Amino acid sequence: RQDEREELYGIMDLAARLYRESLERSEEAGTARRYLEARGVDRETSEAYRLGFAPDRWDYLSRHLQHRKVSMELAERLGLVRRREGGGYFDIFRNRLLFAIADIHGRTIGFGGRVLDDSLPKYINSPESPIYHKSDVLFGVHLAKGALREQGSAIVVEGYFDHLALYQAGVRNVVATCGTALTEGHVKLLRRYAGKAYTLFDADSAGRKATVRAIDLFLAENFPAHVVELTQGEDPDSFVKKEGADAFRARLAKARPAFDFLFRDLLGQVNAGTVEGKVKVADELAPRLAKLVNPIERELYVKEIARVLGIDVRSLLRTPGGTAGARPAPLLRPPAERRPRGAGPEEM
Ligand code: GTP
Ligand code: MN
Ligand code: MN
Ligand code: MN
Ligand code: MN
Repeated sequence: RQDEREELYGIMDLAARLYRESLERSEEAGTARRYLEARGVDRETSEAYRLGFAPDRWDYLSRHLQHRKVSMELAERLGLVRRREGGGYFDIFRNRLLFAIADIHGRTIGFGGRVLDDSLPKYINSPESPIYHKSDVLFGVHLAKGALREQGSAIVVEGYFDHLALYQAGVRNVVATCGTALTEGHVKLLRRYAGKAYTLFDADSAGRKATVRAIDLFLAENFPAHVVELTQGEDPDSFVKKEGADAFRARLAKARPAFDFLFRDLLGQVNAGTVEGKVKVADELAPRLAKLVNPIERELYVKEIARVLGIDVRSLLRTPGGTAGARPAPLLRPPAERRPRGAGPEEM
């Protein structure tokens, strides 16, 4: 129901204002303010992201909402509060720095909350709700949309702080996945604003895996993608802090086309001097080559990979899952089958 949705947006807005007020003014938010200062977050950025603080109390938000005669059932559905055994409600976010998760219009639809020390879980995030569908929301898109259009490209990062650090460094065409895997719905969202994507995940093993998964999605969706690589162990936030915005732009300029990245990545993992290694590389790449829609791009990668592996182009194309199968003119085959439009998650 439309009026119920409006009510949900209203509750989120009340919560965001309260948490913001608390971060800005309350005494108990001192640690949070110092934490932000230590991480180099300035006042303007804090405002732009609607950062907030949930004090270490069980009823900070619930009392506020009850005073305002808000439907606590709806607040519970938003994952802000939970019903107590003996009656009443308690707050879900306690003693955490809060990032407001917004939709494309900038309306708050959820929160990501970080602890201020090393305790776990490091982050807790709002659950799915009638106004928050994780598979079609990217963090920071409301702040990025103008820049996405202007630059025609989207940089995809993992975390809240990565988004924020790049924003402060003046890099604005950025969105963050915030711990979830990239989905078809996300690509659809990106496509509305930009023609290509740069993945910029953490330079660790989780980030590497996320990169390969993202590339496979971009290939399946026929969305051009590049990969930006950082110094091992860094993420965009730590990199910009250590090396500065210029060094960051230099990395960006050296982004590799996604397929090139996949190939180099595989060559770094296997011994391509052995038959086994070559077979492994061909097995991994053949099905992905088949997904390249542009025949020239595909042909050039096929030739390059065959050359580096020292094999015949036709063997690569006959590798299971590859383009050719038993057909004689593989490079002239039409693009790999596409998923039907509109089969993904619902529209926003
Ligand atoms: P900082 O340590 O604050 O710099 O965070 P980070 O963004 O570098 O964190 P990390 O690379 O570990 O994770 C990337 C993103 O995944 C975070 O920004 C969160 O959105 C999400 N994430 C990380 N840890 C957790 C967790 O414990 N639970 C949930 N639900 N999400 C998490
Ligand atoms: Mn990470
Ligand atoms: Mn990180
Ligand atoms: Mn980080
Ligand atoms: Mn939706």
